[in-house]
Amino acid sequence: MKILLTGGAGYIGSHTAVELIKAGHSVVIIDNLINSSEDVIKNIKRITGTEISFYKLDLRDDFSCVFSGHVFDACIHFAGLKAVGESVSLPLRYYNNNLISTLNLIKTLENHNCKNIIFSSSATVYGTPAEIPITEQCPKGTCTNPYGWTKWVIEQILTDLHVSDPSWNIVILRYFNPVGAHQSGLIGESPKGIPNNLMPYITQVASGRLEKLHIFGNDYETPDGTGIRDYIHVVDLAKGHVAALKALKKSSENQTSDDNGLLSVYNLGTGRGYSVLEMVNTFEKVNGLKVPYVIEGRRAGDIGICYSDPSKARRELNWKAEYGLEEMCRDSWNWEKNK
Ligand code: NAD
Ligand code: UFG
Repeated sequence: MKILLTGGAGYIGSHTAVELIKAGHSVVIIDNLINSSEDVIKNIKRITGTEISFYKLDLRDDFSCVFSGHVFDACIHFAGLKAVGESVSLPLRYYNNNLISTLNLIKTLENHNCKNIIFSSSATVYGTPAEIPITEQCPKGTCTNPYGWTKWVIEQILTDLHVSDPSWNIVILRYFNPVGAHQSGLIGESPKGIPNNLMPYITQVASGRLEKLHIFGNDYETPDGTGIRDYIHVVDLAKGHVAALKALKKSSENQTSDDNGLLSVYNLGTGRGYSVLEMVNTFEKVNGLKVPYVIEGRRAGDIGICYSDPSKARRELNWKAEYGLEEMCRDSWNWEKNK
């Protein structure tokens, strides 16, 4: 299949491009490079040995020129701004970028008769989860930041779109906490400035770029008091998109009328939670490095425990995460030291 990847030069998009190509698909990438660089495209080519069509364009602008050279079977929509803290100080920037680009993308896909889309959502839409592990039936909650609300609203937009026109095939993927990097060390996560997320903070402390890790709270109701999350290797996450695409393809091929397209939501996680201290200890053990830390107060907006029930994806997509925490720590460090 020929797949349009928006935000395909970013962290998750680049790993997904590699896995799609490995699975025999061809990819075309649109990215405005606001949080990535053209080197990523070169490195996807190095890993896969395949030429990639890349367009440096902003999804909020007219990008229909891309369709003059390609007919797409489906689109995977990764593009968006994602820094939680920044979204609190710059909410309009987040609403503008994430919502306008999605609305413009849907219109453009529709104009070119491509009604198959996979959307990058987040566990953040569950807010403070009503149940642990979190199933897809768990009600969406109240988000604590504008970034989270953009995911929440885009899910609603896609759901309303499907009601109005059921010929769309839509898969919403709710990611838990992606970490790690491709084993080549050629692509990975490159947060700008001081990282917000745990794993890139740990790797930068380990490399000496940052002095010590600040652990946000050790008074949660967890075995060691620190927050628990469902960390998933980014390569496993990327393979989840290949599996979702298969389901999308099957649905669109079996579509007999204009009203039986697919609308499905899947959690992409491992189903296993690890605490901040377990992350630090495993990272130190696997890589033979020290990660100095201090315990501080809780971070505003954080919850204590968040991990998925990924069984729906296993049942319906025949996908499950394969990598464990040790590989996540090894590959995160391999990327950091090669940067
Ligand atoms: P990323 O920032 O590495 O990648 C996003 C890409 O989109 C970047 O390359 C950026 O340049 C591009 N982009 C942003 N706005 C654009 C626009 N208007 N036009 C064209 N390109 C644009 O982020 P990521 O970690 O790869 O995340 C991919 C998607 O997954 C995002 O939608 C993010 O919100 C979602 N997500 C990420 C996480 C996570 O922890 N990384 C968790 C849950 C959901
Ligand atoms: N943490 C620290 N110190 C840090 C960074 C994080 O102790 O410097 C702790 C947090 O308090 C939390 C855990 O490490 O307990 C994970 O925090 P992250 O910031 O890495 O991840 P979050 O779970 O807060 O959020 C991430 C993304 C969101 C996404 C969510 C999905 O940032 O965009 O995962 O579950 F919605």
